[in-house]
Amino acid sequence: MPYAAFRSIGAYVPKNQLTNEDLTKMVDTSDEWITKRTGIKTRHIADKNEKTSDMGTKAAKIALDRAGISLEDIDMVVCATISPDYFCMPSTATVIAKNLGIKNATAFDISAACTGFIYILAIAKAFIESGMKKNVLIVGSEKLSAITDFSDRGTCILFGDGAGAAVITATENKEEAIVDIHTASDGTYGDLLMTPNGGTGSAYDALDKEAAGCYMQMKGNETFKVAVKTLTKDVRDILEANDIKSEDIKHFVPHQANYRIIKAVGDALKMREDQVILTVHKYGNTSGASIPMAINDIYEEGRLKSGDMMLLDAFGGGLTWGSALVPFAPFK
Ligand code: ACO
Repeated sequence: MPYAAFRSIGAYVPKNQLTNEDLTKMVDTSDEWITKRTGIKTRHIADKNEKTSDMGTKAAKIALDRAGISLEDIDMVVCATISPDYFCMPSTATVIAKNLGIKNATAFDISAACTGFIYILAIAKAFIESGMKKNVLIVGSEKLSAITDFSDRGTCILFGDGAGAAVITATENKEEAIVDIHTASDGTYGDLLMTPNGGTGSAYDALDKEAAGCYMQMKGNETFKVAVKTLTKDVRDILEANDIKSEDIKHFVPHQANYRIIKAVGDALKMREDQVILTVHKYGNTSGASIPMAINDIYEEGRLKSGDMMLLDAFGGGLTWGSALVPFAPFK
């Protein structure tokens, strides 16, 4: 049976920043409140004409270059996004594949909100281990600014835009293999975090987005409590199931929603500060893009080395959650 290996990472961050100070001019809030409750100081916002697929394409190009894999060899492209270019079709994954010049690959989007990257990693692993695919490009890309109500202080302070991508390929070497991935959901909590309507780049731009229910709405405090409880159990379970201890984890890369959630889960696992990867202060919550953007940061800082074991976890709208044990396995 082939195994699935995590070969490379890439990310794209739009240049425009929206600071806490900027937000104080838009809603009744303060830098102190945002920093204390979330850890966020600034976030990046895409240009008006910059689509989710444009950001995803840029991140994917970097990941493909770093993997050194040719476009003809990519047989599947999967994109995790809750802010697709188009409401129904074409999928953002097919647009990214077209932009890159990837032909004839299976391509589709998945919607699992902030857990999206863990879900697409699981999909890549399953397709590769079943022998159906060999080289999968996975992309988390979000233009959350397009579905954010900038008059709602409960949500607009949280979200940012960006993209991250990774190349996952088949290997015979078990030491390179993604160890395990958990994914789950509970739709009974669906109303805690939802966009009743919408999608970026489509004709509803001309509509009254608020009336049409196109913006994200969130019951933040209830979501927070479910997130801490669910994630703590989920990461404990995946470690126990694979007989791996917290100290064996080189990089704990949680979804970057809120510093307090990350700290609560990190403390419950007795993670040291140097194990916990934090980017929420500079990117805010970029949903399905946040984990690959964070992995890219440690890669570019020279901290991510071949063989390093990563523990990923995420929680998001649906509600969905998941965790993954992933060694970094670049081609030698
Ligand atoms: N500035 C100032 N005050 C504010 C702001 C703001 N931006 N937002 C809310 N408040 C007020 C509230 O009105 C409330 O006032 P009250 O006490 O007078 O009623 C008070 O601050 C406390 O509000 P809470 O909602 O209880 O604040 P909390 O500590 O829960 O923090 C937050 C809110 C940051 C949203 C937090 O609940 C959170 O991070 N939730 C989880 C988010 C998450 O993980 N989502 C899942 C992933 S996202 C996805 O899938 C797309």
